[in-house]
Parts: sequence; structure tokens; C-alpha cells
Amino acid sequence: MFETLEAKPADAILKLIAEHRDDPRENKIDLGVGVYRDAKGVTPILNTVKTAEQWLVDNQASKAYLGCAGDPEFCKAIQNLTFGDGSDQDGRITTLQTPGGSAALRVAAGLILRAMPDVTMWVSDPTWNNHVPLLGGAGIKLQAYPYYDNDNNCIRFDDMLAALGQAAAGDLVLLHGCCHNPTGMDLTVEQWQQLADVLADRNLIPFIDFAYHGFAVDLDADAYPVRLMFERFAEMIVATSCSKNFGLYRDRVGSLSIVGASAESAAIVNSQAQNIVRTLYSVPPDHGGAVVAHILNNSELRATWLTELAGMRQRLQGMRKLLVAALSETAPEHDFSHVVRANGMFCYLGVSAEQVARLKQDFGIYLVDSSRINVCGITESNVSYLAESIAAVL
Ligand SMILES: Cc1ncc(COP(=O)(O)O)c(C=O)c1O
Repeated sequence: MFETLEAKPADAILKLIAEHRDDPRENKIDLGVGVYRDAKGVTPILNTVKTAEQWLVDNQASKAYLGCAGDPEFCKAIQNLTFGDGSDQDGRITTLQTPGGSAALRVAAGLILRAMPDVTMWVSDPTWNNHVPLLGGAGIKLQAYPYYDNDNNCIRFDDMLAALGQAAAGDLVLLHGCCHNPTGMDLTVEQWQQLADVLADRNLIPFIDFAYHGFAVDLDADAYPVRLMFERFAEMIVATSCSKNFGLYRDRVGSLSIVGASAESAAIVNSQAQNIVRTLYSVPPDHGGAVVAHILNNSELRATWLTELAGMRQRLQGMRKLLVAALSETAPEHDFSHVVRANGMFCYLGVSAEQVARLKQDFGIYLVDSSRINVCGITESNVSYLAESIAAVL
């Protein structure tokens, strides 16, 4: 039955993780991994998550299925976190709990295909390496818009606007809410406003992938693009993830919010989305969503979560500064200042694939060929070695 199938090549990041694991060098550094890590190299379980889990163990009354749209309490809490408290005055936002942001993207793809089978979705070049397989694989026609200037380590904003100026009315534009993956480079408030003007002029529909809420500046500042678009557009889509900001990666917690032109339209979309969910994974898992709902709805836990979230964000910002300061000593003739201008876990280091290969071979420093680094791999004790090694391959 399966004799016609051929093996798929291993995912580049999984391969890198395995190579790093098998490298016997003590000073090896992993900058490839896609999750948050603390200074000890651990992806921690947040204290607030532990507390909420204990509360669940003590209080959960049933393990019966959730509905296809998940737990209404979770959906309301995430909707308020994303769009702002009480933002859904007229019932135009419908939110479903999904197994991670990935499933939110996949359900959205199904909905889009039902509504507009021939639509084009514009995606940034570059973008998260699962966007194209996930959305394109679901059957959506994709087209790239320029986003990052590799030579100057900045956003190609004018080129981005020019490309979107060519999009057809009704096309969707996939945007990263904050902490653009892989470049870490986000639009400024003014640029978001200009972009909103272009989308509105061309009658394009914003689709915001919001996987790093709270990892750039703070919860409100990071949500600015979502709230701006919500104010200005009759219809939009938002996919969120609790993998990073609650550290719930393996528990698979995310949401899909669709803004409809009216409450009636939102209700129809919700019924279609639930129908798609039924055929994909039937119902979402409960545990992680229940943890998030409990944290967000308990003022004490919520305040502690904000502190824990700020701790992760500040560590990332601190490591970026440390690396740039160390590189200004070891490679003073090179400008790495873009590393501190980037948000979240990732950015491009800005070295060639050959230099990436030398970092791995000669120094045991692991990053993907594009030179995307996860700054979580940097610590106070390895930053000097890292900066010396980078200088050596430049
Ligand atoms: C841009 C982006 N979107 C979505 C996701 C999906 O995350 P998850 O499915 O774990 O919620 C990720 C995860 O790395 C991401 O980087």
C-alpha cells in the first residue's frame, strides 16, 4: 500500500538539534531551537501554569468532550486579551479555541477556501517556515510580498507596500502581529497605519498571525496591529498561540478569531469553522486552554503571569544587547545593531551560509543556514565565545 511513497527529508531544525545533541564539544551553542529557554538552557514551566494546573486537578469535574469551538471561557478571555477588554460590543468577533496557532491557521485556511476558493493570500518573504507548507498545503494560492532587506538588515517597507498595491480586491494579506519570525523586525506604529491605508484602499483583508503576544514590548503595544485593523476593517482574521507567552508548547493552545461584517455573518462563520474543526480534529484538547482561562480570569495569577512574561521578554532583550556589545569589541568594523532592533526570540544574524557552516564546524555553534538565531541560546557565560567565533568567520 505504501510502496509508492518516498521518505521525506528531515526538518532542517530537527536535524540541527540532533547534530548539536551529538556534538561532544563542551562550549557548543544551540541558536537553532524554536522555543524559549532560560539562562540554564531550560524551557521552563511558568509558576502560574503550575498553580493553575494544581487548581485544575483539584477542581475539574469532568473530562467530557469540549465542543468544536472549545471552552467559551477561554475564548472570551483570549478575545479580550487580543482585541482589548470588551471590544466585541456588536458581536462581530467570533473566537474558537484551537490546538495551537498552527491549527488556527489550518482552520482559517479551510474557511477561506470555502468562502473564496480562488483567493490569493500574500505572505511575507521570508516568513515562518511552516506558513507556506501549512497554508499552501491546505490549498490556498500564495504569493510573496517583499519584507526583509538582507543587505541592510531592515524592512523593505516601500517594496512591501508597492507589492501589496498590486494585489486584487478581496485578497488576504498574512501579517505577523509582532516578533516577525524569522527576522524579528516589526513595523512601527506609523508603518502599520500606512499599511492599513493601503489594505483599505485596495480592499484587502488582513490576516494576523499573532504567535508572540507579549514577547516584543508589552501586551497592549504588541496588540496594536490587531486593534488598529479591527477598528478599520469590516472583516479580518487573527490566529493566536499560547505556546510562547504561556510556555504551553506541547499542550497545544491557540485561538482563531474571525471578525465578520455583522453579528449574523460572524455566527455563520462560526458554524462553518466548527464544521471544519469536526472534520479535522473533532474537538480541541482542554487542559492547556483551561490553564490559560484560569490564569487570565484570576487577578492574582494574571498579575504574576505578567511578571513571568516580562521576565522572558527582558531576558531576550538583555541577551540581544549583550551580543551586540560583545560583537562591537570582537568585530568593530561590522554593524550588528539590527540585532537589538529586532523583537522576540529570533533575528537574522546576517552572515552567509558558508559562515554558518564554519560556525558549526569550527566552533560548535548551531544555527540554520539563513542565519536565523534564537537569542535564547545566548547566556552571560557563552556570549564572549560566541562573539569571538562570529568575528573569526566574518
Ligand atoms: C509565526 C508563527 N505562527 C504560528 C506558530 C504556531 O505555534 P503553535 O502551533 O505552537 O501555537 C509559530 C510557532 O513557532 C510561529 O512562529
